[in-house]
Amino acid sequence: MREVIKTVGLTKMYNGFPALDELTLTIGPDVCVGFIGPNGAGKTTTIKILTSLIRSTAGKAYVEGFDIRESPKAALMNVGSVVETPEFYPYLTPIETLDYLGRLRGMGEEYVRDRSKRVLEQVHMEEWATTRIGKFSKGMKQRLGIAQALLHEPTVLILDEPTSGLDPRGMIEVREIIKDLKKEKRTIFMSSHLLYEAQEVCDWVAMVDKGRLIFFDKVENISKLTGAKKLEIRLVEPITEEQLDTIKNFEGVAEVSLVHPEIVNLRFGGNDQDRAKMLAEMIAKGAMVVSFQSVGMELEDLYMDMIGSS
Ligand SMILES: Nc1ncnc2c1ncn2[C@@H]1O[C@H](COP(=O)(O)OP(=O)(O)OP(=O)(O)O)[C@@H](O)[C@H]1O
Ligand SMILES: [Mg+2]
Repeated sequence: MREVIKTVGLTKMYNGFPALDELTLTIGPDVCVGFIGPNGAGKTTTIKILTSLIRSTAGKAYVEGFDIRESPKAALMNVGSVVETPEFYPYLTPIETLDYLGRLRGMGEEYVRDRSKRVLEQVHMEEWATTRIGKFSKGMKQRLGIAQALLHEPTVLILDEPTSGLDPRGMIEVREIIKDLKKEKRTIFMSSHLLYEAQEVCDWVAMVDKGRLIFFDKVENISKLTGAKKLEIRLVEPITEEQLDTIKNFEGVAEVSLVHPEIVNLRFGGNDQDRAKMLAEMIAKGAMVVSFQSVGMELEDLYMDMIGSS
């Protein structure tokens, strides 16, 4: 497997305190990895080392095989990043900004022009291409930040909390942009405080706590680890004794609670087939089922298990 991002025993000390404590992580090509963990876990520190903003104390970090300390230029050729809220000159327009940044990167005039157009489309900013940035909302600046990160066609996109501080609409827009970017061949490494966001947007989750990696796996594997899922069943009319017993007696069911006469919450260890069977039995008992769905998040359960015990 091509190792797109790799850290080996990566350590960063601040006054004798390990902000990063021998973090070892290997990320393959064309995946989106959500980097999660509590405040002060070391997410931004990792990202700053990977983008060469700070130097590690010990250990190694590679991007596309290039050692970040030994060959920062080669490593960073492959990386586009947005770390913290990007700031731009307010009197410049996005086109002027990208032109300036492109030239700083040594890109040719025509290439910068073509790429600027393309990246502004990718972040849905083409209408604002010639408007001064001073007028932009935080969400628009964040999108422009992503555009500048993509300008030189990097194979790796690194984002530190890309939706932090944005209003709900801004968050949704940025998430949709990231989901679109996933369709292209590219590795995305993004930190987030929002477990929901990591689970929705990313294919993999890397969890850190106290500078150490405590979990790294595919999102789709998380449900297997957390076991029983929370289910919510909503009915048109109050549930009957018989219907409630049907649920309670079903194999793998635990913690049945009546939130409302028409709403039942429970934990269920069964698979999709078992759930379909339970639904069919409810309907056979005359229940008019409005919705029958998993609620809550497996990643949340896993997070509480892992962080709580670490
Ligand atoms: N410049 C610095 N000087 C001293 N300590 C620092 C410095 N930068 C970070 N730290 C410490 O290193 C640890 C990791 O910080 P880091 O910013 O990487 O965490 P984080 O996971 O990004 O947290 P958050 O979720 O709050 O953004 C924290 O304990 C922090 O206080
Ligand atoms: Mg941070």
